[in-house]
Amino acid sequence: MLRFVTRRSVLIMGAVVLTAVAGWAGTRSRHTPSPQVLATGRDLFEHEWKPNDLLAKSGDGLGPVFNGRSCVECHFVGGVGGAGLNRNNVASFELRHAPVGTTASGRKAGVIHAQANAPWALESVAMVHAVFPAQVKVGGRPVVGNATTPTSGIATPNDLRPVIVHSINTPALFGNGVMDRINDQDILSLQRGRRYAGMLREVQGDFAGVPVGRAQVLANGRIGKFGWKGQSSSLNEFVATACAVELGLSNSVRKQDLPQKFTHDTSAADDMSAEQITALASFVAALPTPEQRLPESESDRKAVAHGSQLFRSTGCAECHTPTVGSAEGVYSDFLLYQVEDPPPGNGGGGGGSYGGGPVEPEPTPSSDPLPEEWKTPPLWGVADTAPYMHDGRALTLSAAIEAHGGQARDVRERFRNLSADDKQAVFAFLNTLRLPKDARQPAAPPAPAGQTLAFKR
Ligand code: HEC
Ligand code: HEC
Repeated sequence: MLRFVTRRSVLIMGAVVLTAVAGWAGTRSRHTPSPQVLATGRDLFEHEWKPNDLLAKSGDGLGPVFNGRSCVECHFVGGVGGAGLNRNNVASFELRHAPVGTTASGRKAGVIHAQANAPWALESVAMVHAVFPAQVKVGGRPVVGNATTPTSGIATPNDLRPVIVHSINTPALFGNGVMDRINDQDILSLQRGRRYAGMLREVQGDFAGVPVGRAQVLANGRIGKFGWKGQSSSLNEFVATACAVELGLSNSVRKQDLPQKFTHDTSAADDMSAEQITALASFVAALPTPEQRLPESESDRKAVAHGSQLFRSTGCAECHTPTVGSAEGVYSDFLLYQVEDPPPGNGGGGGGSYGGGPVEPEPTPSSDPLPEEWKTPPLWGVADTAPYMHDGRALTLSAAIEAHGGQARDVRERFRNLSADDKQAVFAFLNTLRLPKDARQPAAPPAPAGQTLAFKR
């Protein structure tokens, strides 16, 4: 064969190969950041920021208000980029109703920072209530938002407070790059498929199906995937927001918060450049993806296979969908659900609770999630990411399943009715969903968390 290959054709073939390699390298540099960029991103993720930090070219560095001094301080369980413990929880708030008479600059949610560079800047839950006060009375009747009077009788000022406070647990970031590449259409067609299947079942007289959640449609028309409420569709945007919100590092995507005002400081100079944000986001996107690790023995593997089958047959997989688009083994449908049981005594005027109380949530005109709605969290890596649920209140997988009520109540009941062996099989399956083995370990033990905000759930 080689005999027939002329010098000219060798040259042509060489040129073809070179073009192919150049083309490949071109694509590679578009999609795979250089090792230098990744190293810069890793340094930024692990860097302990200080006020007027040298890495902040023109801004004021850490703060003035913040929740942590580095990304790794909260994202460390299971390696750099991992989950956080409950002591790392972040206090966030949202408004149940558009407040009457407040010009809250359209903000419906925010963060109550746990730390500040100066004592005067420290924030508290009481301050959020002061900024978004209880509703006023019009003609002797209390008015909630721009809608109607509560129907359940006497409303106390507490019931009328628009602010709801959550304690939010830190998720692991492994696989975030894969999640970033899920198309909106992948989520929407999954939702459509479930709707049709449900309709078909109902036609056949089967009403036991799991309700289909709703996609979080963002102001930009995209579907939210990141955050416990699916509040962002893009990893780059979430990373930039984390810089501003968690560390007080302004950037071109999101400015840091103004202490005690619960709004952005629009005049703050940028602490981070676009290149720094890109490097940090590239590092997060390149974190290894969680993996399924099967046990050694044949009988243990059989239990796992049985557990995986039960995970489907009891209905867990309806919401914790194994694969969405290119995200194989993600175990989430990225849709919003209400899976919390109503607080005990709800409807009886349980006054003062942030989440419950007699005031029914109004359907918001946009698709903003209700206070009770949370995105199905991906279960990849779940064996290594305790504590569980958005607020970290479930310390074990068993407690996490028990915490499913509301739209997941039927599925929880089916799980409860399994035999002890079958339940063990489900846990055996969940315990194969592990964080990546090759995750980088934090250089130093993470710094102790700062002040923890105390508030009632
Ligand atoms: C004080 C603790 C804390 C610090 C510091 C922190 N995070 Fe987070 N992170 C959280 C919490 C809590 C959430 C969940 C927020 C939510 O869903 O509302 C989160 C969520 C995220 C997510 C979304 C993950 C997903 O799958 O939905 C990304 C990305 C992220 N953080 C990146 C970062 C980066 C980058 C930094 C450093 C600039 C950082 N975080 C610093 C606590 C922290
Ligand atoms: C109707 C949809 C739905 C069904 C069905 C469902 N889940 Fe969930 N699951 C959720 C939502 C939503 C959350 C988060 C709720 C929160 O944080 O308040 C969640 C949270 C979890 C968590 C905690 C994950 C973490 O990272 O904190 C685990 C574990 C879990 N589910 C396992 C299961 C198992 C096992 C089943 C079946 C027995 C199941 N789920 C059925 C929607 C569902």
